[in-house]
Amino acid sequence: MSDSSAAHIEGAVDYSTKIPNNVGLVNDARVLKALEQWHPGYIDWWNAMGPEGFQTSEVYLRTAVSIDPKGWAQFGYVKMPEYRWGVLLAPRDESRLVNFGASKGEKAWQDVPGEHRASLRRLVVIQGDTEPASVEQQRHLGATAPSLYDMRNLFQINVEEGRHLWAMVYLLHKYFGRDGREEADGLLQRRSGNPDKPRMLGAFNEATPDWLSLFMFTFFTDRDGKMQLESLAQSGFDPMSRTCRFMLTEEAHHMFVGETGVMRVLERTCEAMKTAGIEDPYDISKVRALGVIDLPTIQKKANLHFSLSLDLFGSEVSTNAANFYNAGLKGRYMETKIDDDHLLTSATYHVLKFVDGQIKTVAEPALTALNMRLRDDYVKDCQGGVNRWNKAIEKYGVKFQITLPSVAFHRHIGEFQRIHASPDGRLLSETEWVKHKDSWIPSPEDGEFVASLMLPCWERGKYAHWISPPRVGIDGKPGDFEYVNIDQA
Ligand SMILES: [Fe+2]
Ligand SMILES: [Fe+2]
Repeated sequence: MSDSSAAHIEGAVDYSTKIPNNVGLVNDARVLKALEQWHPGYIDWWNAMGPEGFQTSEVYLRTAVSIDPKGWAQFGYVKMPEYRWGVLLAPRDESRLVNFGASKGEKAWQDVPGEHRASLRRLVVIQGDTEPASVEQQRHLGATAPSLYDMRNLFQINVEEGRHLWAMVYLLHKYFGRDGREEADGLLQRRSGNPDKPRMLGAFNEATPDWLSLFMFTFFTDRDGKMQLESLAQSGFDPMSRTCRFMLTEEAHHMFVGETGVMRVLERTCEAMKTAGIEDPYDISKVRALGVIDLPTIQKKANLHFSLSLDLFGSEVSTNAANFYNAGLKGRYMETKIDDDHLLTSATYHVLKFVDGQIKTVAEPALTALNMRLRDDYVKDCQGGVNRWNKAIEKYGVKFQITLPSVAFHRHIGEFQRIHASPDGRLLSETEWVKHKDSWIPSPEDGEFVASLMLPCWERGKYAHWISPPRVGIDGKPGDFEYVNIDQA
């Protein structure tokens, strides 16, 4: 395809087509037509499975208008169904190479290498499936938003996950012909949590029942998304790399919402405890009587969402991961910054395994241990945010720290799926697990308590009692800014 069209001016997004894009769709009649045909089904899906209500409200959203890192977004009031979902790829670097695996040193591929077609399609579909899934999981939350600010952030995330779906669907239509088209249709047919046609990955079929869950989800599960996108951004298949690099720009905000959301809940609880003179964070009934979420319940939510997100990394030892790497399709986190041969034919990596009834570290070939490595990088990334939460708790002088549970705790995939472990990594019998699990993951009663606090707070500049206001507004807006104009009929 020629690079001479206006849409190919670096960073420029072409709005002349129904689907805003910087990939020259105006000169690519086949793909433009395919996407235009997919579009009505997408809108039907959005109306049926996107945010419940508020579809006629004006929401103060950012829209990607360029791929220039300094000025890529424009803010303004938009009705969600009118959001300009577009196809945006990071700029092409003509000198880019395949940076790892058996084809290391070749020029990055602009087309799908025939022998890797099935693997690549699978990677695109798995990533693509998570995007609409999270929108479906979060669709009921608008009704209980603790503020207009939070409601706006939820809808921002939702429309951007919608755009990420568009990004993956573009790759399917452009590079995978007829089976790509079928997969693109399938992405609109599966439903989160539906036993007959579930989404592909476990964590994306779980409920997001309340706002604390949303914040935990965007902190832990969107961060898995970040790690997956980071390793796909290393891909030798250049269009995949460019797509994922731009998605990461948007993803950062989703994790910001998660980290600051949990932070604001923690701060509010600590503040209320201080004011009431409650020293013991485990005096749960007293803390709950203040109308805030007790710290042990916040810890349980973290345990749950962390463990569900770890499952997304797949088995610790995986020949699929080895094959994807060898083929140059999916690299490691920060691949090009790592100082080694980028072939991994003789390297080893330490993997936590369940051996002879014990949790042990075992050296495995680094190639098959790539999921474990990415998971380790993920855990480090999570820990950074948890440390910031703990600093905030400390500031209030409350004696409590949020901790990440052992990677053996509450797992459904990989080495530890058949055992029970406590958050501190002790092996447990079935009886012990059943006896203690309600003190480690949210019990139905915890769920009911949190649900009882989820009352809408939609007055400008007001926040629900259980959460602190944010430190700064979105796009520099003042505290009483009307982020969502609900009254629009
Ligand atoms: Fe996403
Ligand atoms: Fe996200």
